[in-house]
Amino acid sequence: MAARLTLQDVNLRFGGITVLHDVGFIVEPGQIFGLVGPNGAGKTSLFNCISGHYRPSSGSITIDGDEILGSVPALLARRGLARTFQHPALQLHSSVLENVLLGAHTRLPGGPLEWAVRTPRTIRSERELRVEARDLLERTGLGWAADLPADELSHGLHKGIELCRALLSRPRLLLLDEPAAGLPHTEVEQLIHTVRAIRDDDITVVIVEHHMGLIAALTDRVVVLDHGRKLMEGTAAEAQSDPRVIEAYIGKDAADDDAA
Ligand SMILES: Nc1ncnc2c1ncn2[C@@H]1O[C@H](COP(=O)(O)OP(=O)(O)OP(=O)(O)O)[C@@H](O)[C@H]1O
Ligand SMILES: [Mg+2]
Repeated sequence: MAARLTLQDVNLRFGGITVLHDVGFIVEPGQIFGLVGPNGAGKTSLFNCISGHYRPSSGSITIDGDEILGSVPALLARRGLARTFQHPALQLHSSVLENVLLGAHTRLPGGPLEWAVRTPRTIRSERELRVEARDLLERTGLGWAADLPADELSHGLHKGIELCRALLSRPRLLLLDEPAAGLPHTEVEQLIHTVRAIRDDDITVVIVEHHMGLIAALTDRVVVLDHGRKLMEGTAAEAQSDPRVIEAYIGKDAADDDAA
């Protein structure tokens, strides 16, 4: 079942620098929620706080009401959280399919000892996961590439591999960090179709993206971050016409010049 995510007063500091100031919002189950803002606004840092890669200095983050602040990524994966990264880390010499299968570790029965010994149960599960991984690649338009080395694909398609890897873990909450970056224009429609299908599979999606066409087409709601603070929350259309958001993107001086 799709997860509910809440953030309340999340602060993140590195030494003397405050990267996130009192950020809070609620993502309802089954929503596609956008997180937007200029470069350096703190979007990826916020994802890192949710996924356990960064530990916030204070605040609260819950999944379905349970506090997750301070949990490690592996534990959160078992609770149904999956994410993709702004800069995908793939095993470039392995095949696309093998890279997707790295997302399967939360699904294999037993523990590391059983996996190492490769019991019949492990072998059967691996075979099933392989079929499922191929199916995910087909559904995201990457079926043709399953057996190619990952380094033969473009950066934009690496994001698709990561997306399949994340989906193979059967998440209830999926965080996507700039999935359209590096994708040719013609592939963006396919991505929009894929993300809608993910939501229809009862998965809550939070998406960071600079591609405003994609944000407008997909999201139920957005939060705009600027300099680590929440600037506004509303629909994508409301965000695009909000003077504070326009100013954050083009700078106050330029906004004043335009108004003059
Ligand atoms: N580990 C870290 N140590 C120190 N500063 C950090 C760290 N991670 C992020 N920051 C700082 O936090 C700020 C926000 O960075 P972040 O990558 O979250 O922005 P972003 O909104 O994702 O930007 P972009 O759209 O360019 O990806 C930046 O000033 C960055 O230098
Ligand atoms: Mg980022």
